[in-house]
Amino acid sequence: MPQSWKYTNPVNVTFGKGAISKVREKLAGRNYCLLTYSDHPAFDALVDRVSQDAGRPAVVVRDVEPNPSFEGLRAACRAFNAHAGTPEVIVAVGGGSVIDTAKVLAAAGADFARVQAYLQGETKVDQLLRLPIIAVPTTSGTGSEVTCWATVWDTEAKRKYSLAHENYYPEHAILDPELTLGIPRSLTLSTGLDALSHALESIWNVNANPVSTNHAVFAAREIMATLPRLLERLNDLELRERMAQASLFAGLAFSNTKTALAHSLSYYLTLHHGTVHGIACSFSLPAILRSVIGKNAACDAALAQIFGGDLNRGAGDLEVFLTELGVSTRATDYGVTHENWLGAINDALLGERGRNFIGSREAILATAA
Ligand SMILES: NC(=O)c1ccc[n+]([C@@H]2O[C@H](COP(=O)([O-])OP(=O)(O)OC[C@H]3O[C@@H](n4cnc5c(N)ncnc54)[C@H](O)[C@@H]3O)[C@@H](O)[C@H]2O)c1
Ligand SMILES: [Fe+2]
Repeated sequence: MPQSWKYTNPVNVTFGKGAISKVREKLAGRNYCLLTYSDHPAFDALVDRVSQDAGRPAVVVRDVEPNPSFEGLRAACRAFNAHAGTPEVIVAVGGGSVIDTAKVLAAAGADFARVQAYLQGETKVDQLLRLPIIAVPTTSGTGSEVTCWATVWDTEAKRKYSLAHENYYPEHAILDPELTLGIPRSLTLSTGLDALSHALESIWNVNANPVSTNHAVFAAREIMATLPRLLERLNDLELRERMAQASLFAGLAFSNTKTALAHSLSYYLTLHHGTVHGIACSFSLPAILRSVIGKNAACDAALAQIFGGDLNRGAGDLEVFLTELGVSTRATDYGVTHENWLGAINDALLGERGRNFIGSREAILATAA
């Protein structure tokens, strides 16, 4: 860990049961675009609830798809244009896909080409808009409510882009754990493991600092203690609260470090094999943990707070933890050949997130051999 460091996160966080009613206060009279999904009846009720509490939105944009693609984002921008005059604020009620879409809308307004040109390196950030966002997460996993980047998927070209700039930190994050009560088991599992991955990835990271690591240790311990119990009792509000808080802390941790190798590897599995994000970015965690042992004293110390002093044993425990939740830790179980997996590791290490990883190529290839 560096001797000198800084930690910054400008998002105003409001947490608690019923907190969604604070949208009105945070809007402070500004007109707004309400952004959410249309694939689940719970979101019809949420649109009604926010509209009643906070006043009618200037425009409602629905149909946000999981893993926002160029095509879906272009459609969201067109829907944003359906209103005469740009709304002043975007209120995003949903999981990572909705909050990431909000960041793209905040930068693009009605013109997605503006963001596409930026993502493809053709323009600078000063060509983008900068609308404020109020993020109301309905999953406990991505931490997108406290990060300044959005994942954009070019599914046709099988490429993943990141819209990443401090302009796109939400202005407010409103976490209401009650909104997560209806999440089915599989989504509870994948989003919980996404948060665990954020926590661990911010620890074995060249950008780690004492504040991010402190948040990450809290988050990882809490997720490992809570998630298996929550999966047995999906309607337990106290456990939902603990997961929402742990996911927030993981978000605060990786908001300053970005992710590392497990996420870099996940993009390959999601783009080529359709593996859901939270599983794709977590099944490799035990192998990666094994490969970083002894690389950095601060990293070892943080991991010991989560897994105990014997980190080899801790990596085994993490493997058992995932397997007992029904998550295989073998890449070949996700449809990838062993040879392609070794190629994916090589590519992932060279990717932007892979370069954040403190471990060595040899050690991670040895665990995959
Ligand atoms: N920007 C970041 O910092 C960041 C970090 C991690 C992941 N991500 C991105 O976030 C996306 C994944 O987000 P996600 O895992 O939150 O899921 P998601 O937003 O992709 O949604 C997946 C599904 O969950 C359903 N859903 C969401 N909330 C629900 C609820 N309360 N009840 C019932 N169903 C609900 C939705 O209807 C949707 O069909 C990926 O595209 C990933 O790349 C972004
Ligand atoms: Fe993630």
